[in-house]
Amino acid sequence: MIFSDRDEAPIALDLHPDWAGVVGPGAAGLELEIGSGHGGYALAFGARHPERVLVAVEQRKKFAADLRERASARGLKNLVVLTGDARLLAPRLFREGSLSAVHVHFPDPWWKRRHERRRLVDDGMSTLVLRLLRPGGLLDFRTDVERYARDAVVRLEEAGFENAIGPGRFAERDPDEIPSTREKRYLATGQPVWRLRLTRPLENR
Ligand SMILES: C[S@@+](CC[C@H](N)C(=O)[O-])C[C@H]1O[C@@H](n2cnc3c(N)ncnc32)[C@H](O)[C@@H]1O
Repeated sequence: MIFSDRDEAPIALDLHPDWAGVVGPGAAGLELEIGSGHGGYALAFGARHPERVLVAVEQRKKFAADLRERASARGLKNLVVLTGDARLLAPRLFREGSLSAVHVHFPDPWWKRRHERRRLVDDGMSTLVLRLLRPGGLLDFRTDVERYARDAVVRLEEAGFENAIGPGRFAERDPDEIPSTREKRYLATGQPVWRLRLTRPLENR
């Protein structure tokens, strides 16, 4: 059982919780953010999309607790913040094909070559995210590390993701897109960001 203290009282979440029951009917548009950090994206998403639900999974307890507190202070009922390793939690939290989007923004780069295998987007995670997305569902990946971006695009496309703008290509920033906390800094300094907007292919095509 997984516990979330999103509200005053902890909620017990079973394996594959009934999200509509936990958060209300908005669960039709269920999205996951992996590594929400200081929560700039999650908070803005919660306010902008009251009809959708975002589950933010952050492994650092303090970051998750602060975000939960800020979401509650703003009355954001459509934001669920869970503490833990998303690689372990995601398959327990979501049924196959149940997510309409997964957001991964500026995952830890693990710069040293010998640490690269610790990166979040490895083959296992690529396949897992593809499986959890509904057909047509979106993976929104952003990084400031070119080598990570180039590795991820190959890995994700090999796992079966579709890239509407062409294999190996990175997306332009949509001016309407919500920036993450870290991204706001890069937008101010002009530092480059590599973006992927990949989808799980529609079935029967
Ligand atoms: C560089 S920060 C980026 C934070 C935020 N996405 C942003 O763009 O501002 C990466 C975050 O991912 C979290 N993280 C790394 N691996 C994770 C995992 N396996 N599950 C959940 N969170 C993770 C880290 O604790 C950290 O807060």
